[in-house]
Amino acid sequence: MSEKIFIFDTTLRDGEQCPGASLNTNEKLEVARYLEKMEVDVIEAGFPISSPGDFEGVETIAKNIKNSTIAGLCRAVEQDIKCAWDAIKLARKPRIHTFIATSPIHMKLKLEKSPQEVLEQAVQAVKIAKSYCPDIEFSAEDASRSDPEFLYTIFEEVIRAGATIINIPDTVGYSQPTEFGHLIKDIKKNVPNISQAVVSVHCHNDLGLAVANSMEAINNGARQIECTINGIGERAGNASLEEIVMALHTREDFYNMTTNINTRYIYPTSRLVSRLTGFVVQPNKAIVGRNAFAHEAGIHQAGILKDASTYEIMKPQTIGLESNQLVLGKHSGRNAFKNRLSELGYTLDKEKLNKSFEQFKQLADKKKEIYSEDLVALMSEVLVEDMKDIYELRYFHINTGNSILPTATVSLVKGGDIYEDAACGDGPVDAVFNAIDRITGVKVKLSDYYIKALTRGKDAQGEAVVEIKDNGNSFVGRSISTDTLEASTKAYLKAINKMLSRQLKCK
Ligand code: KIV
Ligand code: ZN
Repeated sequence: MSEKIFIFDTTLRDGEQCPGASLNTNEKLEVARYLEKMEVDVIEAGFPISSPGDFEGVETIAKNIKNSTIAGLCRAVEQDIKCAWDAIKLARKPRIHTFIATSPIHMKLKLEKSPQEVLEQAVQAVKIAKSYCPDIEFSAEDASRSDPEFLYTIFEEVIRAGATIINIPDTVGYSQPTEFGHLIKDIKKNVPNISQAVVSVHCHNDLGLAVANSMEAINNGARQIECTINGIGERAGNASLEEIVMALHTREDFYNMTTNINTRYIYPTSRLVSRLTGFVVQPNKAIVGRNAFAHEAGIHQAGILKDASTYEIMKPQTIGLESNQLVLGKHSGRNAFKNRLSELGYTLDKEKLNKSFEQFKQLADKKKEIYSEDLVALMSEVLVEDMKDIYELRYFHINTGNSILPTATVSLVKGGDIYEDAACGDGPVDAVFNAIDRITGVKVKLSDYYIKALTRGKDAQGEAVVEIKDNGNSFVGRSISTDTLEASTKAYLKAINKMLSRQLKCK
């Protein structure tokens, strides 16, 4: 009988805290809904004390997500713990996750505290947290560079104080798999009350070993794995959820472990996170990269045609990817659309179904063949559109060529009023962005802009991603269209709307 590995997803905390990935509350909730459908055991929804936006995101997720445990992160400080509790208290299954650094480097140079002071603070924090909530996780930050003897003591004491999960982070991605496995084994052997807690690991990918370290930890007794969708996170990121889950799934014969994860949601969730954060998934990324199931070499293709198992160790359908499958076209009706969406894992209420069907029809008018990837892209657009934009696009016209100065006219609506202006630019995109700047009156720095094709063919949908910077904060806007200028215009406007609504909230 296989043992269970708990999957703790920290996409919305460690993933979201990396530069450029910031999501608004609406977007965070959408990701959380997908994580819930995927049946992750724990969703770490954010770090409530770090900003009002983080608090709001965690609170909203706590109120809306019913099946997964909702964790809020906090330092081992009373005010942080109280704030985390306030954000998660309405969750059906709340968890307080408190942490303090335990390595000599961090204790001396960052905290300026002695090991004894750190030990006392950790125990005190767990006691405070326990007074709010039964489910308490304690993390020894930078555990892999800590003195193992000190780890045994601190874990024993925090378990005695009420911690139900002890987490061993490889915070700076320094550990090597065998070494990390030994650390987990030694902790299991040398902490006398360890059987009263679940052993968890949290690995960073600085040396590209986050998944290998997590798997080795499982081999040595860890039963909760902290990870993120697409492996996003601080610096080189965290262990990737899809790689861990699919390794356990594909090699159950080796690990004899299972997870709760409904793997069919892996691909749609990966797409959603990539779109919302603007972080492109590298084409050769294991499991969810564009090429992960593509076979180029003739000899491989011949093998695949005879029997897919010759070169495929997983079926694309297992992760929710019906690659290359022509799904729908302009004559497809509402029922066919609805059925296809439900095969891809989307269950929509009537209003969302109507809205997405309308957008599907518009897309089918422009693009003859609609693939699964088109539908996944369309859904990630529809599902996060609920937030009311400050400025909406009425139209744009661009006059361009290789012998004239590109000029754009843009018309926007704000609060029922129509605004129009025109501007020139170095190219058509620059012209349209300048016209939007003139209307909205904003002065921002464009820090990133790119377009990529989402599907194949001349009529492929293009996704534009725009990142702007204002006062050190970055705002990402994305949009999809078969017309790349339209996608760019809408993406820029979305980034500006995000910035303006943040300015309004901070007033
Ligand atoms: O990397 C780390 O140590 C963390 C902890 C807060 C768990 O993210
Ligand atoms: Zn981390």
